[in-house]
Amino acid sequence: TGKTLIAPSVLSSDFSRLGDEVEAIVEAGADWIHLDVMDGHFVPNITFGAPVIKAIRNRTKAYFDCHLMIAPVDPYLAAFADAGCDGITVHAEAGPHLDRSLQTIRNLGKKAGVSLNPGTPESVIEYVLDRLDLVLLMTVNPGFGGQAFIPAVVEKVKRVKALIGDRPIDIEIDGGVSPETAPLVTAAGANVLVAGAAVFKGGTVDAYRSNIAAIRTA
Ligand code: DX5
Ligand code: ZN
Repeated sequence: TGKTLIAPSVLSSDFSRLGDEVEAIVEAGADWIHLDVMDGHFVPNITFGAPVIKAIRNRTKAYFDCHLMIAPVDPYLAAFADAGCDGITVHAEAGPHLDRSLQTIRNLGKKAGVSLNPGTPESVIEYVLDRLDLVLLMTVNPGFGGQAFIPAVVEKVKRVKALIGDRPIDIEIDGGVSPETAPLVTAAGANVLVAGAAVFKGGTVDAYRSNIAAIRTA
């Protein structure tokens, strides 16, 4: 809704200086901070959990956009809310009770999101639309940064946009976003762009600033 938001994924940052990196990307123009939580079970990689998010929470007031790639997810939702996530996104594929997970997130006072893997059809959101603040469409198979954008998902962005209609639901894209791929998904209806490798290349605040600007103007 409104302008396109850029949400850098700290997955590609220097984890030994995570707090500084979060401050740096906010200074460089990031709108949201995208936090990729992986469990080595739902996805074939392990990153960090609620304690790490809590530890960096006081470094910025920026919106913490938490992407939970974990199964089961319901037992951990309260911990991520307590850690200071502003939005909590769960995967439709991660469990049988999507409607319940979304209700739990809103009951915790947080924005509720659902994420779909590239191979998952958009129809899974049809009956939970009124519980959603955000739909996160994966344009890579989740687990790792720096993978190639899957162009077939662009058609799904258009279909999700049509399903949403005039509801105030954000459409976020995650995976392989760059100045080359960003225009494809924004033209299709996306308004939040996650980017990891494309933002963190260069390793300095000045590099982050020009990387974010390059995606924004693309
Ligand atoms: C992938 C993560 C993404 C990833 C994006 O599983 O959900 O957020 O970090 O990284 P890039 O932009 O490098 O594809
Ligand atoms: Zn992500």
